[in-house]
Amino acid sequence: MKIVVTAGPTREYLDPVRFLSNPSTGKMGFSVAAEAARRGHDVTLIAGPVALKTPSGVRRVDVVSAREMLEKSLESLKHPNTQTVFVSTAAVADWRPATCAAQKLKKHEMSSTLKLVRNPDILKTISQLSKHPNTPTPQRPNLLLVGFAAETNDVLAEAARKCREKGLAFIVANDVTEAGSGFGTATDRVTFVYPDGRQEKFPLMTKRRVAAALVRTVERLSAEGGRLSAEGGGDFVRSRPSRGQSRRDP
Ligand code: C5P
Repeated sequence: MKIVVTAGPTREYLDPVRFLSNPSTGKMGFSVAAEAARRGHDVTLIAGPVALKTPSGVRRVDVVSAREMLEKSLESLKHPNTQTVFVSTAAVADWRPATCAAQKLKKHEMSSTLKLVRNPDILKTISQLSKHPNTPTPQRPNLLLVGFAAETNDVLAEAARKCREKGLAFIVANDVTEAGSGFGTATDRVTFVYPDGRQEKFPLMTKRRVAAALVRTVERLSAEGGRLSAEGGGDFVRSRPSRGQSRRDP
């Protein structure tokens, strides 16, 4: 399978030396890419600014801003002949400064308020394009989308809403207030939430093991025929996980 993974934060510059961002380290996405490559998949990793080594066997594309990440993501999905999975682990900045100065702003040139504009939602954009076969983009009949939801409250309800809203095969919900879970940690306690509301809970485990569980799940969904309908309808008609699936730490 072809697997495209986004990872890390994005940076939204307001001048050449100042930006808005978040503490994402990219560990989760790099672990997914490493595991997918280890299992023989064709992997593209679209990485925001992070200090991690490229996993072996992975094609890496470095980006800085959300708009650049969207552009490279769309490019990487241009040839959807084979079953393709898009795994969005990136902590994309939702907003960017309305303008970016060409030169460093002097303190006296800056105002105490910063005008922001919304960034595109990469995952939602890809999901919506794949639902509209008449848009001037290649049809993506074999695209399966996986998202991440890092939440501080109403974790599973929020994750379920995002899973439906963004047309995902499943979403990985993560309570970032829990000890050992969240940005920069080596471990996570996650729940896979499916569009039909079903939940698959995992114990606290390393990001590597979360990645292994994720890759195995997309392999299974894909083998079960989880795919967009012939009309490009955007729903994974047969992407339900089988009953009795293992909840064990892989
Ligand atoms: O930020 P939010 O909780 O909505 O993120 C849910 C999912 O959407 C994540 O998988 C994230 O990578 C993706 N996302 C995105 N573009 C954004 C915001 C989030 O692709 N602008």
